[in-house]
Amino acid sequence: TPRVGLIGWRGMVGSVLMDRMTDSGDFDLIEPVFFSTSNAGGKAPRGDAPLADAYDLDTLKSCDAILTCQGGDYTKKVFADLRAQGWDGHWIDAASTLRMEKDALIVLDPVNRPQIDSALAAGNRNWIGGNCTVSCMMMGVGALFKAGLVEWMTTQTYQAASGGGAQHMRELLTQYGTLNAEVRDLLDDPKSAILEIDRKVLARQRAMLDSDESAQFGAVLGGSLIPWIDQDLGNGVSREEWKGMAETNKILGLGEDAIGVPGGEAIPIDGFCVRIGAMRCHSQALTFKLTRDVPLDEIEGMIASDNDWVKLVPNEKQATMEALTPVAVTGTLTIPVGRVRKLAMGPEYLGAFTVGDQLLWGAAEPLRRILRILIE
Ligand code: HSE
Repeated sequence: TPRVGLIGWRGMVGSVLMDRMTDSGDFDLIEPVFFSTSNAGGKAPRGDAPLADAYDLDTLKSCDAILTCQGGDYTKKVFADLRAQGWDGHWIDAASTLRMEKDALIVLDPVNRPQIDSALAAGNRNWIGGNCTVSCMMMGVGALFKAGLVEWMTTQTYQAASGGGAQHMRELLTQYGTLNAEVRDLLDDPKSAILEIDRKVLARQRAMLDSDESAQFGAVLGGSLIPWIDQDLGNGVSREEWKGMAETNKILGLGEDAIGVPGGEAIPIDGFCVRIGAMRCHSQALTFKLTRDVPLDEIEGMIASDNDWVKLVPNEKQATMEALTPVAVTGTLTIPVGRVRKLAMGPEYLGAFTVGDQLLWGAAEPLRRILRILIE
C-alpha cells in the first residue's frame, strides 16, 4: 500500500480534496500520512496516528507520494531540500510554484493523459495542478485543441471570489450584507426612489475602499467587479492572463516547455481576467479563430463527446439560464459549455461560454486523479 503524505488538507482546496478522496474510495488504496505545519502531534482527520510535522524531511521522505495543498511558500521551503536529499517519490502540488518548471507536468488527465503517460515513462516525478481557469476551460473545450482546430483563442473571464481564498469569499458576502443593510428600509418601502437607493449604496461602497472592509481584494467587489487578478507583470498583462497561454500550451505539450513529447508551435491565447461576485465558479466567454470552417453541429458533437464531465448546453435562453450559471454548477463536476455559435466575423470564428467549479476541476479533482493514475 503506497504511503501518501497529505499536507494542507485542512484549507479550502484541501477540504474539497479530502471530500472527493473519501467519496471516490481513494483512502482504501493508500496509507495516508497526515502532516501539519502548525499542529504536529495533534489529531489527524482519519486513523490513530498523530499529525506529523510537515517540516520533518525524514518523515516526508518515508512517503511514496506527497500531495500538498499547503500553498507555494511551503513548496518553496521543502521541495528542493527533499529532492536534494535524494527523495524520488511523486510530488503532487496544487500551488503554481513549480508549474512551469521543465521537470514538472501540469496534470489534467482527461485532456493530457498521453503527456502524463510519456512523462511518467520518462521518469517525471513532479505533477502540478493547473490554474483553475485554464483547467476548467480545457475540460470544456479541450476537444477543439486536441483536434488542432484552434488557430488562436481569446478568453474573457468572470472569476469567483474563492479564487482568492476563503477570506475573500467571506469579504464578498460581508460587503453584500453591509450594502443591503444600508438601504434595507428604503427597499422595504416599495415607493422609495431607486436613485436614492443607488446613491446610498455607492456612498457605502466608496466608504469601503481603503478600509478593512475591502482588505482582501483591495477593491470593492460586492456590487462591482475588478478587472485585474494576481500580480501586475509590468507589461500591461496580469499574471492570471499570462497563465492562460502559458499553461494551456504546456498542458497540450506545445511550445518549449513540454516534457516527454515533441513540442509544436504555441497557440496564441489572450484576453482579460475579471473578478466578479460569484462564490466558487469561474465562468468564461471564449472566442476562437478556427484553423478551418467546421460545421456547427460537428463542433458541438466534438465538444459533447470529449469527456464524461462536459455537457453541451443548447444555445437557447431557457437552457442557458438553467444550466450555464455558477449557481447551477457549484459543487458538481459538470462542465457545461453553451452559447456555442459562429460569430459575425465569419465562419471560422466561434464563440462559446463555459462554467466550472474552481475548487473541483479547478483545483482538487486533477490532483486526486493523478494520484490514482500513479498508484494504480
Ligand atoms: N488564480 C485563480 C484566481 C485561482 O484567483 O481565481 C487559482 O488558480
